Amino acid sequence: MSAQFPVARPRRLRRTPALRRMVAETRLAPADLILPMFVKEGIAEAQPVASMPGVYQHTRDSLRKAAHEAAEAGVGGIILFGVPAVKDGTGSAADDPDGIVQLALRDLASDLGDTTVIMTDLCLDEYTDHGHCGIVTGSGEIDNDATLERYASIAVAQADAGAAVVGPSGMMDGQVGVIRQALDQAGHTDTAILAYSVKYASAYYGPFREAAECAPRFGDRASHQQDPANADESIREVLLDLEEGADMVMVKPAGAYLDIVHRVRDTVDVPVAAYQVSGEYAMIEAAAAQGWIDRERTIMESLTSIRRAGADLILTYWATEAARRC
Ligand code: PBG
Repeated sequence: MSAQFPVARPRRLRRTPALRRMVAETRLAPADLILPMFVKEGIAEAQPVASMPGVYQHTRDSLRKAAHEAAEAGVGGIILFGVPAVKDGTGSAADDPDGIVQLALRDLASDLGDTTVIMTDLCLDEYTDHGHCGIVTGSGEIDNDATLERYASIAVAQADAGAAVVGPSGMMDGQVGVIRQALDQAGHTDTAILAYSVKYASAYYGPFREAAECAPRFGDRASHQQDPANADESIREVLLDLEEGADMVMVKPAGAYLDIVHRVRDTVDVPVAAYQVSGEYAMIEAAAAQGWIDRERTIMESLTSIRRAGADLILTYWATEAARRC
């Protein structure tokens, strides 16, 4: 008797939408999604970011409206980036109690209450006139330890203004420990830290630099962000941040680094976030605008893949839209 093939029929469970839905291994929920938002000082109307269709530099008022819509869609949180009207060498707007992010945080804390988590990006590049993430020395290098003092002060200013979670993204050594200590000393023992632990020196951040107006005036970020060639050092960065007191860790970018997301998820027992960055967003929007790919399917596939790789949380500029769809 000849063998009868196929012996197994995996297609049985793929036959109908109901079957596929029932056996799906990965699910997206609105609470998994975090919306990054930009608020700019001194503008009368929200300004579209050309390289990120659908993303705006908000006024305080338009931010309130968009944040309300995100909360209604059920997003897990929003993360705020500020664009100050005046920048200087030390980024003094970053920890000014009347700086744009602090004002916006107070607005959102009073509007949103506990409906969604209010978070901040904690860095200097949006606030410095040279566009670097820290204090620059006379020879043009970034002074790690002088920068830490600034981060400590920014963390306290953001927590004072109502941030429930701060997200240090500058890749300075020791930043999580210094921030934890400063928060605790200021009485903010309940403010959590989402550490951008694994952050690559990536070309995918291109459009963000228009949105946050923070392209470096000279040099690049390769002296402090990770080399895309390296994987093992990501684990070292994550473990250091956990030792220093991080509550959650992040991998950034997401799509081109799913192997890293997976390794980090396997290594730690805290929530793992992945940041689907501006370039990932721009590529899909641009190809969809040309009619070359199906926009909605590609967005949902990209998010599902990041979840499948092991991310518990996804920072994505599509958070509100995707939350409505899942
Ligand atoms: C630093 C920061 C950057 C991004 C988030 N936080 C830029 C950078 O490191 O150069 C990029 C996010 C994106 O591309 O969407 N404050």
